[in-house]
Amino acid sequence: MTTELTIHRPDDMHLHLRDGEMLKAVTPHTSADFGRAIIMPNLVPPVTTSEQARAYRDRIMATVPKDHAFETMMTLYLTEGTDASDVVAGAKEGLIKAVKLYPAGATTNSASGVRDVATVMPVLEKMAEIGLPLLVHGEVTTADIDIFDREKVFIETILDPLRQALPELRVVMEHITTKEGAQYAKEGNENLAATITTHHLIINRNHILVGGIKPHYYCLPVAKREEHRLALRAAATSGDARFFLGTDSAPHTTSTKENACGCAGIYSSLNTMSCLAHVFEEEGALDKLEAFASLNGAAFYGIAPNRGKTRLVKEESPVSYPETIAVGDETVTVFDPGFPLYWRVENLG
Ligand code: NCD
Ligand code: ZN
Repeated sequence: MTTELTIHRPDDMHLHLRDGEMLKAVTPHTSADFGRAIIMPNLVPPVTTSEQARAYRDRIMATVPKDHAFETMMTLYLTEGTDASDVVAGAKEGLIKAVKLYPAGATTNSASGVRDVATVMPVLEKMAEIGLPLLVHGEVTTADIDIFDREKVFIETILDPLRQALPELRVVMEHITTKEGAQYAKEGNENLAATITTHHLIINRNHILVGGIKPHYYCLPVAKREEHRLALRAAATSGDARFFLGTDSAPHTTSTKENACGCAGIYSSLNTMSCLAHVFEEEGALDKLEAFASLNGAAFYGIAPNRGKTRLVKEESPVSYPETIAVGDETVTVFDPGFPLYWRVENLG
């Protein structure tokens, strides 16, 4: 039985750090365990220009503890007013690593998102030309489509037509939650990849709804049926280079989640690597964890793996993580996988 595993320091290719007090509280959890992270731009107001991204990067870096080796990979929030030349300049400067497409109204702070992909085609064409990835929140938002079908319908009606129209565009399907999403990514060419979150490998929709509503398991895209969770596990643990880790760790205060209209988002930065080691061990695939968390994402973004190493050690008794973390006068509730965690994470620098 493997009880110790050393891998390249992982990257989190989909992360929400927020701003202000929240940013200060959560950054160190990511920078402790991850070498780099793709930073989501859905602040209020969103990060839509290179100048805003540069300022946000500086605010993030000011919250990274001195002894943590961490770099940001900034993204821009695509709007119908995005200026293609600013995107190109930000990418050329090495600041902007991707552009995020939120269909308007799909999720937290997505009101300025895209209503009609046709309006942003000139920007997407430029991105295809320079090889800058488009990160898609793959859910349609029309009221007539059931929330559990929104990913599947997005793939059929928006993503596939877009990829046919612009095959050179590099695309990441963010936080896939369905077997259809995994299948579509697998059938794609080298221009297509998909991130998978930690929590979607662990919970299905029953965890949210059976025995009382569990707001801390509510996120978007919402967790689906068990068959989908199993398909995601198979994809993540396959070693296939198209699948990599994007935690989608998305902190909201406990009070805004335990609420009559609770926010979507699960905070998992603190215990993600321990959860993943547990999942990969359960699947008999510990040897594929490094590909998923440390190699495949870097390869897609055209960067070398982190130089640092991480050792995962399986303890005899459970490793404890706090249930909540303090943010100003409030707390953020940490993802509870629902089972004890035995894998301890050691950062070897
Ligand atoms: C994210 C957030 O809170 O910013 N929420 C979530 O449930 N994942 C937004 C997102 O990535 O959809
Ligand atoms: Zn997200």
